[in-house]
Amino acid sequence: MININHFPLWVAKEIALEPRKLPDACEIFRLISRKQNRDHLERWLSWVCDIKTLADQEKLVRESIRAFAEGKGLPLNIRCGKELIGGIGLHSIDWSQGTAEIAYWLAKPSEGQGIATSACKRLIEYAFSGAVGLRELHIQCHPENARSRGVPQRLGFSYQGMVGRYSIYPVRGNYVRQELYAIQNS
Ligand SMILES: CC(C)(COP(=O)(O)OP(=O)(O)OC[C@H]1O[C@@H](n2cnc3c(N)ncnc32)[C@H](O)[C@@H]1OP(=O)(O)O)[C@@H](O)C(=O)NCCC(=O)NCCS
Repeated sequence: MININHFPLWVAKEIALEPRKLPDACEIFRLISRKQNRDHLERWLSWVCDIKTLADQEKLVRESIRAFAEGKGLPLNIRCGKELIGGIGLHSIDWSQGTAEIAYWLAKPSEGQGIATSACKRLIEYAFSGAVGLRELHIQCHPENARSRGVPQRLGFSYQGMVGRYSIYPVRGNYVRQELYAIQNS
C-alpha cells in the first residue's frame, strides 16, 4: 500500500516527487497560468482548460487528495529544487487487478531534458516495489502527442491498441481515441 512516509521519491540529485497538498494549488495555478505553459498544456490536457480560477484549482487538488485517501490515486508534484515544474501521478488504481494509469505534465521550460521519462521510471519502480505491489501500469496518449508517446516508448511499454471513444480535447473540439501502452512487473 502507498504510505506517505515513502516520500519524497528522488528521481535525480535535484528532482523529487512529493505528494500533492492543498496549499500547492496556488503554486500549480500560477505555473499553469503562465501563457507559454497554458498554451502548451491546454492542447493535450482537458483539466487545464477547465481551470480558470484559483478556486477551480483548489477544487481539483481537493478531489485528487480525496482519491489518494480512498486509495484510488496518487497525485505528485515534480520539483527541481524548491521549484514546482510539473506533475505526475497514478490514477484509477485497481488494487484487485493490481493496475493503475500514469499521467504526467511538465512546464514548457522543463521539457526536452528527460525529466518526465526519469520521473515516470522512478514512479514505476515504486509502484512495482514490494511496498506497493502493483502488477501492471498503463499510459494513454493522444495519437498526435508525440512527446507524451515518447515516454512509454523510451521505458519499454508495449503498445496495446486504441481505446476510449470519447476523450475530448476542448481546444480542438474533436473526439478521439487514445493509444494505450502497458508495462508489467516481471
Ligand atoms: C508529455 C511531456 C511531459 C513530455 O515531455 P518531454 O520533455 O518530451 O519528455 P522527457 O522529459 O522525458 O524528455 C524527453 C526529451 O528529452 C531528451 N533527453 C535529454 N536527456 C534525456 C535523458 N537523460 N533521458 C531521456 N530523455 C532525455 C530526449 O531526447 C527527449 O527529447 P526529444 O523529444 O527532442 O527527443 C510534455 O511534453 C508535456 O507536459 N506535454 C503536455 C502535457 C501532456 O501531453 N501530458 C501527457 C498526457 S498523458
